[in-house]
Order: sequence, then C-alpha cells, then structure tokens
Amino acid sequence: MAFTKTVALLLLAASDLVVKGEVRKFPDTLSFGVATAAYQIEGAWNVSDKGESIWDHFTHTTDTIKDRSNGDLACDSYNQHKRDIEMVKELGVDYYRFSISWTRILPDGFSNRLSQDGIVYYDTLINDLIAANITPFVTIYHWDLPQRLQDLGGWTNPMMADFFTDFAKVAFEAFGDRVKSWLTFNEPWVVCLEGYGSVTKAPALGMTGIAEYMCAHNLLKAHAKAYHLYDDVYRPIQKGRVGLSLNTNWHEPATQSPTDLEAAERAMQFYLGWFGHPVFSREGDYPQVMKDRIAQNSLAQGYPRSRLPEFTSEEISYIKGTHDFFGLNHYTTTLVRMPKKVLEGPSFYDIDLGTEIFRDPAWPGSASFWLKVVPWGFRNLLNWIKKNYNNPEIIVFENGFSDIDNKNDTDRISYYNKYLNALLDAIEDGCNVSAYTAWSLMDNFEWLEGYTERFGLYYVDFNDPKRPRTAKASALYYKSILETRTIERK
Ligand SMILES: *[C@@H]1O[C@H](CO)[C@@H](O)[C@H](O)[C@H]1NC(C)=O
Ligand SMILES: *[C@@H]1O[C@H](CO)[C@@H](O)[C@H](O)[C@H]1NC(C)=O
Ligand SMILES: *[C@@H]1O[C@H](CO)[C@@H](O)[C@H](O)[C@H]1NC(C)=O
Repeated sequence: MAFTKTVALLLLAASDLVVKGEVRKFPDTLSFGVATAAYQIEGAWNVSDKGESIWDHFTHTTDTIKDRSNGDLACDSYNQHKRDIEMVKELGVDYYRFSISWTRILPDGFSNRLSQDGIVYYDTLINDLIAANITPFVTIYHWDLPQRLQDLGGWTNPMMADFFTDFAKVAFEAFGDRVKSWLTFNEPWVVCLEGYGSVTKAPALGMTGIAEYMCAHNLLKAHAKAYHLYDDVYRPIQKGRVGLSLNTNWHEPATQSPTDLEAAERAMQFYLGWFGHPVFSREGDYPQVMKDRIAQNSLAQGYPRSRLPEFTSEEISYIKGTHDFFGLNHYTTTLVRMPKKVLEGPSFYDIDLGTEIFRDPAWPGSASFWLKVVPWGFRNLLNWIKKNYNNPEIIVFENGFSDIDNKNDTDRISYYNKYLNALLDAIEDGCNVSAYTAWSLMDNFEWLEGYTERFGLYYVDFNDPKRPRTAKASALYYKSILETRTIERK
C-alpha cells in the first residue's frame, strides 16, 4: 500500500514536472484532419431535385434559431468545394472529414430514386480531394434526416434500421471504390437526447425519458446493420473501415467522496456508455446501471415495463463489436455530484441519471456556455476509454473552440495548444490514438446558435453573399504543428 502510494506520488510528480517551452514530438503514426458537416456548410438546400431534410424543415418552420438564420446558403460549399479543398490543402492535413446529405442523393429518403446531381456533387468532391492528395473520411449521417422519414417517426421508427442501411448501401456502392474510411453516425447521443428527449436539435420532440431511448435503440440497430452490410459485402472488395463517433464531456467527480465518484461514473455511463457499451464492451448491451435505474424508475412511475427498450440476446451479439476503431468527439469537461435531495426535472437528467452537473467558474470559457477549457479532462477521458473498452484504437473526430468574431483568434490557438498537449500526455499514458481531427475547417451554421458562434480555422464572412473565407491565426498555427509534427508545451 505504502509502496503503491509512493510510486503514485512519484508518477504524479513526474507528470507535474512539465518543462515550459519544451518541444514535444507527435508519433509518426498519428495523422491529422479537419472536419465539416453537410448541413452546416453546403447551402443549396433546394437545388436540382434535393429533398427537404429535418434541418431545412426546422429552420424554415420555427423561430428557435438564435439569429433567425438557416443553412439555405450556409458557406455555399455546394458551389465552392474547390476553395474548400484549397484550404484543406493549405493546412497540410492528411484527411478531410465531411458528411453526405441524405436528401441530396436520395430526395425522398428511400433508395428507389437517386439524384444524379447529388451523386455527381460528392463524386467530384471526392475525386478532387484525392487529386489533392487528401484522404476523404465520410460521415454517412450527420443529423440531416429526410423530413419524409421524420414524418414516419424518424429514429423512433424501428424501420429506420432498414432505411438507413439502404442509404449506406447507396453510399458504399457509389463512393466506396475511393472512400475507405466511413462513419455511420455522428454523435448519436446528441441526435437522440437533444432531438428527441429535449428540444435543442431538430426535430425537437422534447419527450424526455421515452423518445431518446427509443431513438437510441433503433439507431444502434441501424449502425450495426450498416456495419454488417459493409463487413459482409463491401469490405472484401473495397477494403475500408467503418465506425461511429460518440461524443462526451469528461465527467469529473466534484469531490473524491464515494458518492460523487459514483455519480461521475454514472454520468460517464449515461453519456458514453449508452452507445459505447453495446458496441465496444466485451458483454455488449446497455450499461447495467442504465438498465437497473431506468427499470426501477419506470416501475415506480407506474409504467408496465422499463422506458429503456430491451435488446434480445441475438441483437446484443449483432451490435457488439461493430467497429473498426473508437470514434470520439470531445470538447469540454463538467463536474458531477450526487444530489442532496431528489431532483425534479427532465427524466433523462434528473430522474434516470440523477446527478447534478455543473462547471467550475474558474475554468476559462468560450463563446458557447457549455464549452470550458479543461485540457486535463481530455487526457482523463482517453484513459477511461482505454480502461473500459480494452484499449481500442481511438480516432478523435472533433475537438475545437468557439468564439464570436475574431480572425486573430489567440484563444483558439491556446485551446488547441493545450488540448493537443493533453492528447500527447494520453498517448504517453498508453492510449492508442491514431488520428486527431480539428472542428472545424471554417465557421459555419452552428445549429440553434445560427452563425453567432464560430468554430472555424478559416473565417467566413456571412454578410457577403460570396461567403469569402480567410485563414485565421489558428489556421496558420495548426498548419505549423502539422508541418513539424511537434508542439510546444506552453
Ligand atoms: C430556393 O430557396 C431560396 C431561399 O433560400 C429561394 O429564394 C428560391 O426561390 C428557392 N428556389 C427554388 C427553385 O425553389
Ligand atoms: C493501436 O491500434 C492499431 C490498430 O488497431 C494496432 O495496429 C496497434 O498495434 C495498436 N497499438 C498499440 C500500442 O496497441
Ligand atoms: C493578435 O492578438 C495578440 C494578443 O492579443 C497580439 O499580441 C497580436 O499583436 C495580435 N496580432 C495581430 C496581427 O493583430
């Protein structure tokens, strides 16, 4: 005991012994990228035969977007993909992560009718990227469901596993000869929790405690079905890889008391474990703590069965192991404690998860209320994934910082410096991180925040219909890191 404690103290001391100004080298095996998503950048929402997505519908029929804006024009990337590739090239990244708009290639949502113009758009983008020596990394679903499928219940409809797999099949068929890296889903937690449980993403159903669990259930089956399709039919000939990207904050216990430690671990399971455990754990299925708590709460509330749907044992095996890497989106950290009295609020957060989540006011902020700069949380999270999911290969698909309007974005430079140093710390801890993706290539439509919060390495002038892009100071900083594959410890 005493010995272990001494060793632990020595280790702590060693990691505290950071030499400021030290230049640290990234492993040669680590590649770097930059990311965007279709609805946030493309515009051209109604060109040719493109169908209506839930984000087209939501922005046109509600007034919930902060600046009353929408993605009708966005960054105009539909017409300016050559300029986008020029920027990607200028940064010197290895790959570009973008998403395919479902209704641009399947206007009705179903795969009986393809849009030739839609296919040509992505064909050209992919060909031009490859010609520029940039690897395309494609997200199949980044939140823009066809409105017609939403009218059928969206992700609460069990048929969605088939409809999504039909869409994925079209993508594998059309682009898989050149695209070798695929994500089925971006941030299922946000899709289900914010779109179905609460009202902060389309379709804003707000049926907490019910709809998010139904959504997750069908989405996990959809992911697994598309993965198996690729594995059975396309992998032998196309030789690519498929995964999904899960988002989570690091949940730090507010104190080291046993109850706060339990609360923080529970939060990790309700955020990352909800989707991570079925796919990445040895046992599969939802985390035990979710199954137990939601079943208990449901019965106490008078429901005849748990509000968390159950997988059959066949489904558990079918979903388990459907990954070629662990995809992670991470921005920030929160503090978690056990509540002193029973909480009364949204079912997911207060009843089922049942913890208090807050932020240390001393942590530096950003333009987004939720995004505080806590780089050590990134290191802890990567270690948690290593420990809980058997040291998987991890690809970071999003990490970045928001500000209001600033081309000399020194706060973003500082964020990237700190988070990339934390990433290196985690790699030195033995975490197997193979790639890192900055969010985002350029300022874009930030969902409910419209154009009021900017995450770009490139500045976009949204007052100019031509949407000119300019490199911010952070673009030059990221470029210099990629050129030297080193980073200074600040
Ligand atoms: C497409 O939408 C824009 C608004 O974003 C509108 O001005 C334009 O008329 C629409 N075009 C067609 C062909 O419907
Ligand atoms: C990291 O993951 C890759 C891909 O699965 C694997 O080839 C490599 O051996 C792993 N490295 C370590 C140190 O575990
Ligand atoms: C950018 O901001 C930093 C810190 O505020 C300042 O030192 C620097 O001179 C600025 N650079 C330019 C080009 O304005």
